[in-house]
Amino acid sequence: MIVSSMTNKMFEVINGQTFHLYNRKVSYVLTVMENGQLGHLYYGKSLGTLSVSDVNYLKVQNSKSAGTVKYSPDTGNFTLADRAQEYPVYGSSDFRKGAIDISHNQEPWYLDFKFADYSITSDKPRNLNCPESYAIGSSEATQLNVQLIDVEHRLELVEHFTIFDNQSAVVRSTTIKNRTGKMINIENMMSATLELPDDKFQMINLSGAWLKERHVKFHNLEQGTVSVESLKGASGHQHNPFIALIRSQNLNQGEAYASNLIYSGNFISQVEVNEWHKTRLMTGLNPTYFGWKLEANESFKTPEAVIYYSNQGVNGLIDASTNFTKKHVIDRRWSQSERPIVFNNWEATYYEFDEQKLLKLAHQAKRIGMECFVVDDGWFGQRDNDRSSLGDWRVNPQKFPHEIALFAKQIHEMGLQMGLWFEPEMVSPDTSLYKEHPDWVVRHPYKSVSIGRGQYVLDFANPEVVTSVYQQIKPVILATKLDYMKWDMNRNITEAYSPYLNKCNIPQTEFFHRYVQGVNMLYQLILTDFPDILIEGCAGGGGRFDLGTLFYSPQIWPSDDSDAVERLSILTGTTLAYPLSSFSNHVSAVPNDQIGRQTSLAFRQMVADFGPLGYELDISNLPLDELVQIKKNIEFYQCHRQLFVNGRFRQLRSIDPQSNEVIWSVENADSTEIFVGFYRKLATPNASILNYVKLPMVKPNLTYQIDGGEKVSGAILQQLGLRQPYQFNGVNLDTAELYGDFQVHLYHIVSIE
Ligand code: GLA
Repeated sequence: MIVSSMTNKMFEVINGQTFHLYNRKVSYVLTVMENGQLGHLYYGKSLGTLSVSDVNYLKVQNSKSAGTVKYSPDTGNFTLADRAQEYPVYGSSDFRKGAIDISHNQEPWYLDFKFADYSITSDKPRNLNCPESYAIGSSEATQLNVQLIDVEHRLELVEHFTIFDNQSAVVRSTTIKNRTGKMINIENMMSATLELPDDKFQMINLSGAWLKERHVKFHNLEQGTVSVESLKGASGHQHNPFIALIRSQNLNQGEAYASNLIYSGNFISQVEVNEWHKTRLMTGLNPTYFGWKLEANESFKTPEAVIYYSNQGVNGLIDASTNFTKKHVIDRRWSQSERPIVFNNWEATYYEFDEQKLLKLAHQAKRIGMECFVVDDGWFGQRDNDRSSLGDWRVNPQKFPHEIALFAKQIHEMGLQMGLWFEPEMVSPDTSLYKEHPDWVVRHPYKSVSIGRGQYVLDFANPEVVTSVYQQIKPVILATKLDYMKWDMNRNITEAYSPYLNKCNIPQTEFFHRYVQGVNMLYQLILTDFPDILIEGCAGGGGRFDLGTLFYSPQIWPSDDSDAVERLSILTGTTLAYPLSSFSNHVSAVPNDQIGRQTSLAFRQMVADFGPLGYELDISNLPLDELVQIKKNIEFYQCHRQLFVNGRFRQLRSIDPQSNEVIWSVENADSTEIFVGFYRKLATPNASILNYVKLPMVKPNLTYQIDGGEKVSGAILQQLGLRQPYQFNGVNLDTAELYGDFQVHLYHIVSIE
C-alpha cells in the first residue's frame, strides 16, 4: 500500500506524522510521539520508501521497565526516560541533559514542545554572513522544517533537517521564536541530538595541543558521559568539535556515525550512555559562559551540525565528511581551481628579513617551480618580534623602503602569486590602534588582565571594530593585488568581556557567540570585495581547524609543527573530519625547528605531497642536490596535483597515532591511477621480510603497473596486497630498499589496460 501523502526524491511523510528524509545512501526517520513531542526513529543506511507497517515497527520503543516516572497521568506507561528524541528537554521524565534550557527571571522553565506543522524547502543558498551548508539550485537539498509549540510558555521551535543528494549526511539546526511577549533567556541550545539504540561503539575525538593537534583518541563507551569542549573563544588546539562513534577500527567495514559543527567558537560535543545502554550524542554551542537574551518576537538560530553515517568503516567516514564538506561547505570555486604551491618565509627567515632578502628567496622559489610567495608575520608596523604592531596594518618602511605595492608588483612580474599574513583579531599595546581605542579590547574592568604573546584580543563583538580593521586591510589587498591571505589568530580569549556590549546593555554571556559573528563579518567583507582571494586559516597553527573556518577559507594551516613525522598523526586525525584539500602541508628544514627531528628530504616531501603543497625553509641556502630534489618533486606534484588534493583519500594501515606504520592512498575516480604513501616511523630490525598492504580500491580485472616496473592484476593487489619495501635486515644492506628510521616510499600504481 502506498501511504506517502507526499513524495519526492528525498522526502516522504507517512500518515501525516512520520517524516522520512532519504537518498541512495542514508535514511533519517522522525515521528510525532504519543505525547506530541518529536521522536527519533532511525538514522543509518538508506531504507528506500517506507510503509505504514515499517513505521509501526520502528515506533516500538517502549521498554516497559524503563523509568518509574511517566510522562503524564494521561499517557499510561509512556515515559521519556529511554525514548529516542529529536530535541529532548530536561525537566519531565527524561533525566538526561536536554538540548535546550530556557529561563525567565532566573526561573527555569520545564519545556514541552509539541508538533504543530511542517514545511519543506529546497532553497539553501550560500550566504556569506553565516557559515552554513549550502546547495546550488533546488535539486541538491531538501530541508524539512518541523514547527513545535510549547503552548503553556508560548514558545516556538523550528527543527531544521536537511538532506543532500548523494551525501551520507544530514544537517540539523534549531530556531527558537519568542512568542511569550516578554524577555526570556536561552541558557543552552544545542544544534543536534542523535539517539542510537545501543552503545556498542568506540568514540573517537580529535584532541591534542599546540604542535600536536587532532590526534585520534579512542574511548570505549560506558554508562556516563564523555565530552570534548572549548571555552577558548575558538574551537581550539586541544579539542575539535568533530566526534565519531565507530563499531570497530576496521578501515573499510562497519558502521560509523560522526558529528561536526559548522562553527568556530566555544562548543561542546558529547556522548551519553544511559542505564539501558542507549547512546545520545549532542553537539552545539557550549552552554558554559553562554546565555542569550531573547526579547519578545525575536528569534535565535543555532549553528548547524552535520551528522555523518558510514557503513564502510573509517574510510567510508572519510568519504562522507570529505564529499559533504567539499560540496556543501567550502566555496565550490576551490574545487575547480588549483591550489598554488606556496613558498612561505616564516621558518626561512622568521622576523629577520627585508625586501632584498625576500626578493632573493622569491627568485629562487620561482626557479624551482613554486607558484605563490607568502610574506608571513613581520611585514608591517615595527614588527621585529612578536610583541609589537598588531593592529597597525601599514607596511614596515625599513623592511620595504619601496612600498609593498612595488614589492608585490615584482613578485607578480616573476610569475608568482602574492600572499600576506594578517592577524586581524589582535592588537599589540604599542600601536596607534590600541592608543586611540583602548575600549576596543576584550577586557574586563578588573585591574588585572591576561596577556598572550604580548597581545590583546580586539572586541569583534563590536561591528565598528570589525569595519575599522577591514578599512586598514582593504588598501593593502588592493595595493598588492593580493592573491592569498594567511589569517592567523595566535592567542585565545580571556576575561571575556566586551565594553561595547556593556554599553549596549547586551549581556556579556552573549560575548563569545557575538565575537564569532564578528569574525564571520570580516570574512564576509573581504570575500564580498575580493571573492577570488585564497584565504588560508590559521590559529597558532591548528587552533581553529573547523567547518566554520572552512566555509570561508578552503585550506587551513594545520599545525605549527612542520615535522613530517608529527604531520603523519595530524593529517591522519584531521582527514577523518576534513578533506585532504583543506590540509596545507609545508616542507621545512632539518633539524626540524619545533622538535629537532632529522628526516630525509624525500620523507618530508612525500608526506607534504598529500594535500596542498608548500615549502617553508631557507631555499637560498640549500645544497644543490636538495634544490634539484625539490624542483623534481614540484614537477611531479604539478603533474599529479589533482589527485593529491582532490583524489579519494584512504587510510590503508591504521588510524591509531601509536601505529609505527602509516599508509595513505589517493586514487582517481575510476581507480586506474593510485598513489600509495608508505611511512615507517622507526626501523624494526629483523622484521618479516615480506609484508603486504591490501588495496581495496583496485579493479580486480585490470592489470596494474607499479612504479613503471612490475605488472600485477588488481585481484592480487586486492587479495594479497601491494608488497611493501624490504627493510634493512641484519647485515645485508644491498637487498634493503629502506633502512634506518623514517622510511618512506611513494608508489605510483597505474592500470595498463
Ligand atoms: C603562528 C602561525 C605561524 C606563523 C606565526 C607568525 O604561530 O601558526 O605559521 O605565521 O604565527 O607569528
